[in-house]
Amino acid sequence: MSALPIFGEQGAGSREQYAPARAESPALNGGYGSLLPAPCSLPGVVLRGAVLSDVPQLEVLMAPYVATGDLLPRSNYDLCRHIKEYVVAEGPAGEVIGCGSLKVYSRDLAELAALAVRADWQRAGVGGALLAALIAEARVQGLAEVLALTRKPGFFLKVGFAPAEREHFPLKVWADCARCPRQNCCDEVAVVLRL
Ligand SMILES: CC(C)(COP(=O)(O)OP(=O)(O)OC[C@H]1O[C@@H](n2cnc3c(N)ncnc32)[C@H](O)[C@@H]1OP(=O)(O)O)[C@@H](O)C(=O)NCCC(=O)NCCS
Repeated sequence: MSALPIFGEQGAGSREQYAPARAESPALNGGYGSLLPAPCSLPGVVLRGAVLSDVPQLEVLMAPYVATGDLLPRSNYDLCRHIKEYVVAEGPAGEVIGCGSLKVYSRDLAELAALAVRADWQRAGVGGALLAALIAEARVQGLAEVLALTRKPGFFLKVGFAPAEREHFPLKVWADCARCPRQNCCDEVAVVLRL
């Protein structure tokens, strides 16, 4: 599988990677199945769609961030049931070092969720590469916008997301809040990217 334009010579983490031209990207035609696996500009790192056998590693990867409140808790059942929404970054030894998911709410709107990079791999471009892959997938799906609810808005604002009012999104988006331990002291902000 050839490398995607979003992982081109500018390198993961650069602004250019976030603007894949759909018409120039013949690989971007069938969701993760054809979009991924894709090499990342980091040596030995590959992005691919998640599979059920990744679930134990996803749980380990996300656990510390669930503990800090940066990620919502996800049950094993929920991960298995929605595994096709997830993309993972695989390190040189085949281990899962990062993940993210695209949760579709309607023909127009999806949420970028569960973005996490293993602590020893952070600030190396993995998160940016995952974000770019999820945005590319959202474009392939013809979505109009993607939102994220985050305590790290800077990560998203860097690549063109804009702050948004949480109340502008459909109520079902907030269904997740019911199972969040921080529901009464939420400090997440909404950011949105028009595609
Ligand atoms: C947020 C997270 C996914 C970023 O992953 P990462 O691999 O460290 O990010 P990258 O190295 O690809 O960084 C991409 C760009 O975002 C910037 N960035 C990374 N983390 C950032 C943060 N917390 N705030 C602001 N900017 C950030 C980087 O400096 C880089 O900018 P550059 O392109 O100008 O160099 C990672 O820190 C993480 O897993 N955090 C814990 C889980 C979490 O909070 N997830 C919530 C996200 S909704």
